[in-house]
Amino acid sequence: MKALVGEHIETLKPYVPGKPIEELERELGIEGSIKLASNENPLGPSPKATEAARALLTKGHIYPDGAAHRLRAAVAEFHGVSADEVITGNGSNEVLTIAVRTFCTADDEAVVSEYSFAAYPIICQAQGMTIRRAPMKDPLTFDLEAMAAAITPKTKIVFVANPNNPTGTYVPADELRAFLKAVPEEVVVVVDEAYHEYVQAEDYASAETMRDLRERLIICRTFSKCYGLAGIRAGYGIAPVELIDRMNRVREPFNVNILAQDAAAAALKDVEFVERSVRINEEGRAILEAGLEALGELGVSWIPSQTNFLLVKTPVEGVQVYDALLRKGVIVRPMAGYGLGEYVRISIGTPDEVRRCLASLGEVLPALLSREEA
Ligand SMILES: Cc1ncc(COP(=O)(O)O)c(C=O)c1O
Repeated sequence: MKALVGEHIETLKPYVPGKPIEELERELGIEGSIKLASNENPLGPSPKATEAARALLTKGHIYPDGAAHRLRAAVAEFHGVSADEVITGNGSNEVLTIAVRTFCTADDEAVVSEYSFAAYPIICQAQGMTIRRAPMKDPLTFDLEAMAAAITPKTKIVFVANPNNPTGTYVPADELRAFLKAVPEEVVVVVDEAYHEYVQAEDYASAETMRDLRERLIICRTFSKCYGLAGIRAGYGIAPVELIDRMNRVREPFNVNILAQDAAAAALKDVEFVERSVRINEEGRAILEAGLEALGELGVSWIPSQTNFLLVKTPVEGVQVYDALLRKGVIVRPMAGYGLGEYVRISIGTPDEVRRCLASLGEVLPALLSREEA
């Protein structure tokens, strides 16, 4: 009998999302848990987005605008581009998938960095592609020269997350510019800016300022993080018309639902909410860093981050810390699946959530360390 699926699907390891609060509470019979595991916005959604979505609840029987005109127009205005240069997706994850399905075949190769967003290799493997992983440089930062060096004549797509998940690190503008110029013109470069709004580094610049450097460049943004719409699902890509046109041939006709289209368009205009989200993130990060510093004598350290999470090095296996924190009703993200077994990733919640996470860490680490010594 013919194999049910090809080897590339048989060996594909699915994406492991953060543990939902309801699941934890059901399993342990506890209440009042907090989730700092999926880099969600602790303020909730933009209120303007909620209002826009609520108005559409009675329109659920009507198909969405397949071309998402209003949302694409809002994105185009926001970025000063033409609506034909914008594609929207069911989260930016879908935009990444559409890009791979559009531009790549099983004969092509993808270049990713080690310790980068897990979806890139998953999407490419599902397409049957070969994936090359470039090493990072210290401290867990994209090495764009190594990535350029990993490109072969078979490479069709390259993914740069800036800033990167799960490390929180970024590449400075001059390095990104040099990379965009160095990559052969036939390669599609995806610069994934899911955490763009949080960046404070002065030498960072969005790839939207570098579009003149190459034709085959797709810039991805999401409404899941700073705009607080992870559950509503909306993201977008900006690229030259020629690329967007081809991606639209692959895109499913009604890929962004009616709530998401108007909620995202309203969120984009909610400047005050984005500013508030960034401010509370800065506040939470300062509290988290100070608390981790105080735990330094137990062997805790972290990677400097430009995002709404910190990659935290733990003195015992990260999964042990994750398990112990679960029992305290605090969900963080173990990193073994990323090959970072000595780390957990902690999303920056509200100041109170961060303090609770730190207090729990302070309680579980001594016990874990003494168990380790025994
Ligand atoms: C770097 C990066 N890109 C893309 C995504 C996908 O986000 P969404 O599909 O919710 O837009 C994430 C989500 O965590 C991410 O960390």
